[in-house]
Amino acid sequence: MHLLIDRLAAGEKLTRTELACLLERREGEHRDYLFARAREIQHRVFGNKVYIRGLIEFTNYCKNNCYYCGIRRDNRSASRYRLTEEQILECCRAGYELGFRTFVLQGGEDPYFTDGRVTGLIRAIKAGYPDCAVTLSIGEKGRASYEAYFAAGADRYLLRHETANDGHYGKLHPAELSLRRRMECLRDLKDIGFQTGAGFMVGSPGQTMDCILDDLEFLRDFEPEMVGIGPFIPHHDTPFAACAAGTLELTVYLLGLVRLMLPRVLLPATTALGTISPGGREQGILAGANVVMPNLSPGDVREKYLLYDNKICTGNEAAECLDQLRQAMSSIGYEVAVDRGDAPGHSKTEGSEL
Ligand code: 5AD
Repeated sequence: MHLLIDRLAAGEKLTRTELACLLERREGEHRDYLFARAREIQHRVFGNKVYIRGLIEFTNYCKNNCYYCGIRRDNRSASRYRLTEEQILECCRAGYELGFRTFVLQGGEDPYFTDGRVTGLIRAIKAGYPDCAVTLSIGEKGRASYEAYFAAGADRYLLRHETANDGHYGKLHPAELSLRRRMECLRDLKDIGFQTGAGFMVGSPGQTMDCILDDLEFLRDFEPEMVGIGPFIPHHDTPFAACAAGTLELTVYLLGLVRLMLPRVLLPATTALGTISPGGREQGILAGANVVMPNLSPGDVREKYLLYDNKICTGNEAAECLDQLRQAMSSIGYEVAVDRGDAPGHSKTEGSEL
């Protein structure tokens, strides 16, 4: 097992059977060894720095109806909101002061936010905070829209692929959404020049080890600059209300595997990971993750952006409690960086596109 891990750490491409073997035998000593190798790579590439992103959840209106998601169109109980441009800029102002140099604009697929409004927003943020990166996480759009966002100054785009297995994709989404279209969006984003983020949920209903192997192979081949991996957590007003959540154990193990497969990847210890276990994010960092994304949204809307039950939005999770997060990271030997934290070699400002 150590040999497989060493080969992966050396940049070798493992066969599907070998990857399956790593997934099956993930207990005790193997697990510790995998995490140790993952940390070693993380240190080699990023030192002991952890990057922070200020997450601004600016709308919870969504035209999609994904079965797992609490802000799905059919959830009539969701209390919907949109932030104004002024409110969003106020989040950035507060965030900049706290030390954030990346703002992540995340929202449902909300038709109110036309390309004109989105590009206006990007330009306003870039004008006010030229030394900051802007990340978008607003779903599937046409190529021309992505091009307009990039031209307006957006640097990065998060669009989790959710599952790389077509049959599984169909179990998580209604028929109008397709894996083919999702992948097309991801290719467009990368091609346009965004630092692009893919990712998936661990333990989503219907997920098998075969699906996870598809995810790992997809990530290895697509080579995204960012990978978001968090446990599935049921939301009470969705068709998956009664389903079990994904586990901390498997999620953290997958973070370690992804760090070995993609040494330079920006890998968040997600909010969902912190939600299923109090020390979840620290465990994620110790497995190879190197990003945390505290919540910068105004206090009164935080509980409305409920993708799943019990989503944390205070303590280490809250941007205004950054000192607490710094403390938590420092207790495990890491330092929160005041830095854009671009993917190595991919910063537009450095002019060194990969
Ligand atoms: N549990 C965990 N993660 C979820 N997401 C959406 N719903 C849930 C849930 N119930 C994730 C999706 C999406 C990201 C913004 O949040 O992977 O891409």
